[in-house]
Amino acid sequence: MSENPQETPHSSQKILYVTIAVALLAIVVIWPLSMRGKGGAPATGDDSVELRIQPVARVTIKGEEPAAASGPKDGESIYKSVCSACHGSGALGAPKAGDKAAWTPRLAQGKTVLYASALNGKNSMPAKGGATSLSDAEVKSAVDYMIGLVK
Ligand code: HEC
Repeated sequence: MSENPQETPHSSQKILYVTIAVALLAIVVIWPLSMRGKGGAPATGDDSVELRIQPVARVTIKGEEPAAASGPKDGESIYKSVCSACHGSGALGAPKAGDKAAWTPRLAQGKTVLYASALNGKNSMPAKGGATSLSDAEVKSAVDYMIGLVK
């Protein structure tokens, strides 16, 4: 009875505005504060904030990882990160790693030819498996690794 039908929507609108204002304030003030630990300033508990706001998952596209980041990679890890995309399953007609029947005629061409195909590409096989950031030596070590699987 005492309720004024016009007051209720009005005051709930007020509450809404206050809520929005507080939320904006939280974003504008607290967010930059939480970022302060980054620039070398003493991090006082900021790490936990960074942990909470970090992405849930990171996507790495095969063949696009920077190879130079941690020095030369060995053949096995290059195979696993780049070459296995096709050579693991035989996609696009790639000779499957470890498949002797598929590799025997290729081995007969000699290592030099295999290296050249891996470096420069051959039909559906992209140069360096598409990972152009790999050095020649890294690509060759991946070839050596695959050759080792069928020996
Ligand atoms: C996008 C798919 C794909 C990726 C990635 C890929 N290959 Fe290949 N690879 C192929 C295909 C398809 C062939 C067969 C080409 C042909 O003979 O027509 C092949 C063939 C080869 C051959 C045999 C070439 C020859 O002369 O017979 C070698 C060696 C080789 N790949 C090495 C590698 C290495 C090393 C990597 C990783 C750095 C790699 N490949 C990544 C698809 C791929």
